[in-house]
Amino acid sequence: MAKELRRSGMKGNIVGLDISVGMLQRAFETECYSSVICHDLDNDLPFTSAKFDIVTCCGATEMLSNVDHFLAQLRRMLSDDGEAWITFQYKTDSPNPIAHQGMKEYSKSEIERMMTRNGFELLNFTVTQEAYFLPSPTDKSKLVAIPFAMVRAKALKNNK
Ligand SMILES: C[S@@+](CC[C@H](N)C(=O)[O-])C[C@H]1O[C@@H](n2cnc3c(N)ncnc32)[C@H](O)[C@@H]1O
Repeated sequence: MAKELRRSGMKGNIVGLDISVGMLQRAFETECYSSVICHDLDNDLPFTSAKFDIVTCCGATEMLSNVDHFLAQLRRMLSDDGEAWITFQYKTDSPNPIAHQGMKEYSKSEIERMMTRNGFELLNFTVTQEAYFLPSPTDKSKLVAIPFAMVRAKALKNNK
């Protein structure tokens, strides 16, 4: 993500968070991040309020135990009118293909409700049916597509 932001001309500070030191090491080696911090996103974020203009979260909400708490923390970190760009594993009519790995999925209305109650206004909601592929839990010779929702949302004023 930071690489794309730099490629598109972003000059400001970019701070990367992950629970994995190995992932942070790889991120740091791209030389796109101003700093990287090892942190469990299920805990309060280690920043003062209203510090960031944009937060991005790609491919992580499905692993968190309390997404509501995470979204409230994102809102707290963002300046008013700041933006959150977040992916969610998207719930379809089929059973969750990676429930056995503890991954959580969310429907459009669940995502909308979570964003709204945590102080965001949805600006854009896009679904890709094939965000990535994993071996099927029932037949390892087959791959299953994992659908993702990509959300762009604005942090509403007076809602920290
Ligand atoms: C699918 S990868 C996505 C990595 C990166 N965001 C990207 O788009 O390339 C999911 C990442 O979430 C991290 N992760 C999982 N649970 C986490 C948690 N509780 N707190 C912080 N990071 C977590 C993993 O270490 C992993 O790097």
